[in-house]
Order: sequence, then C-alpha cells, then structure tokens
Amino acid sequence: SFRINIAIDGPAGAGKSTVARKVASALRYIYIDTGAMYRAVTLKALESGISTDDDSRVGQLADELDIVLLPGSESQQVIVNGENVTSRLRTLDINRNVSYIARLSRVRKRMADLQRRMALEKGVVMDGRDIGTHVLPDAELKVFLTASPRERAERRFKELEADANLTLDELEKEIAERDRLDQEREIAPLRQAEDARLLDSTGKTVDEVTEEIVQWGLAAA
Ligand code: C5P
Repeated sequence: SFRINIAIDGPAGAGKSTVARKVASALRYIYIDTGAMYRAVTLKALESGISTDDDSRVGQLADELDIVLLPGSESQQVIVNGENVTSRLRTLDINRNVSYIARLSRVRKRMADLQRRMALEKGVVMDGRDIGTHVLPDAELKVFLTASPRERAERRFKELEADANLTLDELEKEIAERDRLDQEREIAPLRQAEDARLLDSTGKTVDEVTEEIVQWGLAAA
C-alpha cells in the first residue's frame, strides 16, 4: 500500500478537526487544519486594523506571514512569525470575521499554495471547506462530513471560552451565518465534491466516525 492524501470538508462544527487528527494519527499521517490558517490571517488582520474586505492589504499581509503548523498532542499548534497563536484562534471575534477574510481572492490563493506544498509528499489528512474541490482535487479519498445544526452548535459551544456570554441558540445562528457566507462566496465555496463520500456524524461517536474514514483510507491506499 502507498501513501494517499485525504480531504475532509464540511460545515462548521461537524467534527472535522477532531476526526481528521485521529484519522491522521491512526494512519501515521500528517494532519493539517486549514481553518486554523484562515483564522491566523484573520487574527493578524484584526491586530493590524486592516479592513476585512481589503483584498489587496489583507492579501499582502497573508503573503508576508510565516505560518508554521506543528503537530501537538491536543490540537495542532499554529506559529505565526515565530509566535504561537494557537490559543487565540478560536474566539468569537475570529469566528465572526474569518469568513469575510476567507472570501478574499489573494488570501485564498496564498493559503491554497501553502496547503498544496504541504501535501506534495502525500500522507496528509487535510480538513477545511474547499480541499476536495479546489486545493487537492486529486486526493485519493474525499469525505464530506456533516452533522445536524444543533449538534454542530453544541460542539462549538464547548470549544468557546467560558465567558463568551452566548446562548446555544445564538451560537447556532452564528454558525448558520458563517456556513451561508462560506457556501455563497465566489471563490472556492463550501460544497461537497462530486467524488466525495458523504458522512453524517449526527449521533455517532468520534471513534465511530474515525474508524469509518480509516477503513476507507486503507481501502484506497
Ligand atoms: O474549520 P474552521 O471553522 O476553523 O474554519 C474557519 C473558517 O475558515 C471557515 O468558516 C471558512 O470561512 C474558512 N475556511 C475556508 N477554507 C478552508 C478552511 C476554512 O474558507 N479550507
């Protein structure tokens, strides 16, 4: 058997990162969380006070950022210009702005370039929104992972800082809005690739979903 690339796409909170990390560890592959890269660009744009719809300025910022992804025991560590920003990427502020940054053409081009480079030697499990459709259209296994809106909101709820002051209903609305922006954007919108397998994780455990994808991966390798 040989090394393959695995693309896992889907809406927010479907459990992609948790599952993708476990699949990678089971296959001894490298896990790449592409959402974290868009979040890192968003963090830096907000810090610099650049408007989230300024393609040229945010694009230049993205081109200049040195983004390094390191495997970690709990989650992937994100190092930007030498600084570990991992703990600052999953805030409400970033959640609310990231889909605007992710619409920008220069940003998307830069991220896709970096992601393709990371996958050149195969053996990666990459999660995101456009991996199967745009970044790695030749990935040997593509999965589109979904779950019911309520279950997705509950998962993200647990992820947020405790003082977020947001009800589950409010969070469910915010997630729906982010999914809408991701689905309706012009460049590389969120959608299931024609050759992707649909996997609904509602009511399934992380281990069940992981095992299903690992078996598909072994069959494809
Ligand atoms: O996966 P996560 O929720 O961390 O992604 C954050 C945001 O980054 C998404 O809502 C989307 O706007 C953007 N994104 C993207 N393309 C990817 C991964 C993430 O546009 N491949």
